[in-house]
Amino acid sequence: MTCVKIARASAPAKVMLFGEHFVVYGCPAILGSIDKRVSVTAKQTESEKININSNMGFLASYSSESLDKPGPQFSEAQNTLYPIYAAVHDVLKDHFEVDGRHHGVEIDIKSDIPWGAGLGSSAASCVATVGAVKSLFLKPEKEWVYSRALGAERIIHENSSGADCNISTFGGLIYYIKDTRNKKISSKAELSLVVLITGIKHSTRSQVSFVKNFRNQNRSLFNDLANRATRVCDKAVSAMRSGDIIKLGELMNENHMLLKDLGVSNDEINDLIRFCLDNGATGAKLTGAGGGGSVVALLSNENQASFVRKLGKKGFRQYFPVRISSYGLLIE
Ligand code: PMV
Repeated sequence: MTCVKIARASAPAKVMLFGEHFVVYGCPAILGSIDKRVSVTAKQTESEKININSNMGFLASYSSESLDKPGPQFSEAQNTLYPIYAAVHDVLKDHFEVDGRHHGVEIDIKSDIPWGAGLGSSAASCVATVGAVKSLFLKPEKEWVYSRALGAERIIHENSSGADCNISTFGGLIYYIKDTRNKKISSKAELSLVVLITGIKHSTRSQVSFVKNFRNQNRSLFNDLANRATRVCDKAVSAMRSGDIIKLGELMNENHMLLKDLGVSNDEINDLIRFCLDNGATGAKLTGAGGGGSVVALLSNENQASFVRKLGKKGFRQYFPVRISSYGLLIE
């Protein structure tokens, strides 16, 4: 077993191209890791404290001895970073059981993923943190990192489909069904995507709980939407395999309508989508939990640059082209 004092890991953000929310109830989703990442440095200390510092403006300190439950006694930073703390505590506990020592660590998170924007920043932070902390003791398997990071994510919303942690750990473009192995999709055409951020931060937990209530109150409507979402997702795989960008865009629009019917879109998202479709996008939809967050637009390769220029001219500030990247968790 190798023992190092400092370890680093990084993990990617994601775009959900099809199937968000429905994936929580067993329907498929399509998602891809993107070229925005979070990097985590873990340093072993003698202090028996877990200190977490994030460049998203949070700094928090916790005990490494017992896992204190979040609540009003915690600061905003302590509550926000709680899942990351829980993940670190969980990894350290294994080693306490081996050598009887309460290890302390300093975690430094540097992220270029916008927070609360539906791009999986929290899952990527959990994945990279688990990867870095475990590497202080020995190099972990990806499967192991995935299951520990998912455990931490499920503290935020217990029904998490696991899709975000999965794509952030393994990377690529995948067809995902909850609690099963994902399948890689090979797209014949490169996907030219642009993400536009509404600027409204959302809470995945409350969006997921909103959908749960909707489903409880409208079971047959929900089932109908879910069946249609499944069909859209399956057709999207064929469109990707044959490189049919026009068809893929139409399917994204169709998926957005289903999310609108589910009640997770809003005026800001719908206005951005209208702008995208009026300015050359072949399709556009909300991505992630909705209620704010981001929109993802699909463009033909030739149209992407002029579309981005139009966004600049219109005065939009928060947007960026994304590429699907094949890199998941990387341990340095
Ligand atoms: O907005 P995000 O990045 O937290 O994405 C959530 C995706 C959901 O399908 C709404 C929830 C889930 O567990 O898959």
